[in-house]
Amino acid sequence: MNNPNLNVSINGPSVARAFADHLVERLNEKREGPFFLALSGGSTPKLLFKILADDYQEKIDWKRLHFFWGDERCVPHDDSESNYGEVKSLLFDHVPVVMSQVHAVDTTKSPEEAAKAYGELMMELLPRNADGLPILDLNMLGMGGDGHTASIFPTNMDELLTDKRICAVATHPESGQKRVTMTGPVLNASEEVAFLITGNSKTQRTAQILNNEHGAENFPVAHIKPTSGKLFWFLDLAAADEVGY
Ligand code: 6PG
Repeated sequence: MNNPNLNVSINGPSVARAFADHLVERLNEKREGPFFLALSGGSTPKLLFKILADDYQEKIDWKRLHFFWGDERCVPHDDSESNYGEVKSLLFDHVPVVMSQVHAVDTTKSPEEAAKAYGELMMELLPRNADGLPILDLNMLGMGGDGHTASIFPTNMDELLTDKRICAVATHPESGQKRVTMTGPVLNASEEVAFLITGNSKTQRTAQILNNEHGAENFPVAHIKPTSGKLFWFLDLAAADEVGY
């Protein structure tokens, strides 16, 4: 595979730094106005948030950024499981973001009501594509070992990859935890999707999907291909070990 949108770095921190530099590039390319960025949860993004807080204070015009989440756990924002809570403590408390531009999922509502309200908020705040779907400038996603992304799992992908709703309620297949997730069509409406994938627990799945090997279609990540936008991969050496680049 000769993929110009594939960035391989030595380890997790260097993947985070490569993505942070990419974010700066994209902000500079979209010279002015708001920049609509969606974040994901999990361990890889933690590295990114720390590096942004430590080293990108001056490199990013924080007041341009509007933050969204590709998925959120249906827990209070001060719960250790909260994706919003993770970013607030690691990043928002350390850089001059405009908190009125931080659009968290309202997890005080029931999962169904939170998903509906979040979809309405996205429709209100974001530009729309020809299909009437909200467009994010940059949608940062991760991949679980089972090939899930956001909270679209192999168990619910048949529904969520083609769902007409903007956001939906998903149930984690192991923990049973309820989550609000952007649906497949919304992820694919993004101007750009960037996957950050690290660690040897992802090696096989990453290769299967990036090399388009037999069975790749069974995993949600393989179905995330922006309709008219760009698709980038930020991998560490471990995750990329069997990718033919
Ligand atoms: C979440 C994430 C989820 C995550 C993957 C990868 O809320 O858990 O959005 O989709 O991106 O599980 O997580 P790691 O980077 O921790 O492996």
